[in-house]
Amino acid sequence: MRLMDCLSLGLAGASGKLGRRILALALEDQDFSVACGLGGVSCLNEDLGALAGKEKIGLFLTANMDELFEKSSLVIDVSAAVNLPNLLDGACKKKKPVVIGTTGHSEDNFKLMKEAAQSIPLFYTPNFSLVVSAMTNATTLLSRMLSDLCTIKIIETHHVHKKDQPSGTAQQLSRCVEEASSQSPSIESQRMGEVIGDHTIIFSCDDEELTLTHRSLSRNVFAKGALLTAKFLARQPPGLYSMAELLRRQ
Ligand SMILES: NC(=O)c1ccc[n+]([C@@H]2O[C@H](COP(=O)([O-])OP(=O)(O)OC[C@H]3O[C@@H](n4cnc5c(N)ncnc54)[C@H](OP(=O)(O)O)[C@@H]3O)[C@@H](O)[C@H]2O)c1
Repeated sequence: MRLMDCLSLGLAGASGKLGRRILALALEDQDFSVACGLGGVSCLNEDLGALAGKEKIGLFLTANMDELFEKSSLVIDVSAAVNLPNLLDGACKKKKPVVIGTTGHSEDNFKLMKEAAQSIPLFYTPNFSLVVSAMTNATTLLSRMLSDLCTIKIIETHHVHKKDQPSGTAQQLSRCVEEASSQSPSIESQRMGEVIGDHTIIFSCDDEELTLTHRSLSRNVFAKGALLTAKFLARQPPGLYSMAELLRRQ
């Protein structure tokens, strides 16, 4: 999908593990012009091109939220859940669309997202992978068919630096099971080395077992999904969007 006009991209969390991959792919994509990168204190004033492992571009990591929304036509957020109230405040003041990919949100944060989505286009997903979206749909279908026969369990494994537990994706899979059946599945969280993100859902019957596993082999999966999502959101009116709408309306 090509956009008519180039998007001036703002990125919150530009110095993070995922933020750097999004920056690198956005710098190679003619639908985007990287406009601003926001981060915490660890890489303040570093060149955004250098953060992406590329040539310097003469734009520097800022901690100034106003600057982020002034310079950008759309913002992708992969910073931290704690940053959300400030981020939505900035987005609503400047009426700019926001893609939220952070996880570990409180109920209050979800309430803020719903309120903000009344005045701006807002996309939230705990997982930018299209394959995980397919797994989510399969989970709904299998839960409907098997919940009377099987117990259902979710296992998620991530790197030791991950701040939230269980992962947003495991919570989303769990919600699918709950909505499609009367079961509330158990979730096991494992933290190991540098694992990017694995999710398994197990349907166990008396004498048989069905297992679905998704394994992220590179953060490029999420970075590509984040940019695809941004292109989608840039064409939408105010509202709250998810991967389900993106897949339906593509
Ligand atoms: N939706 C998806 O598909 C997907 C996939 C992977 C990860 N994620 C989520 O994306 C988020 C980032 O993941 P990551 O692995 O890239 O984490 P990370 O490496 O820790 O990066 C976090 C980034 O956010 C910045 N930051 C933290 N607190 C901030 C604040 N209050 N204000 C401004 N910037 C702040 C950090 O800057 P400093 O280093 O200076 O603090 C860093 O640039 C997490 O919530 C993670 O669960 C989502």
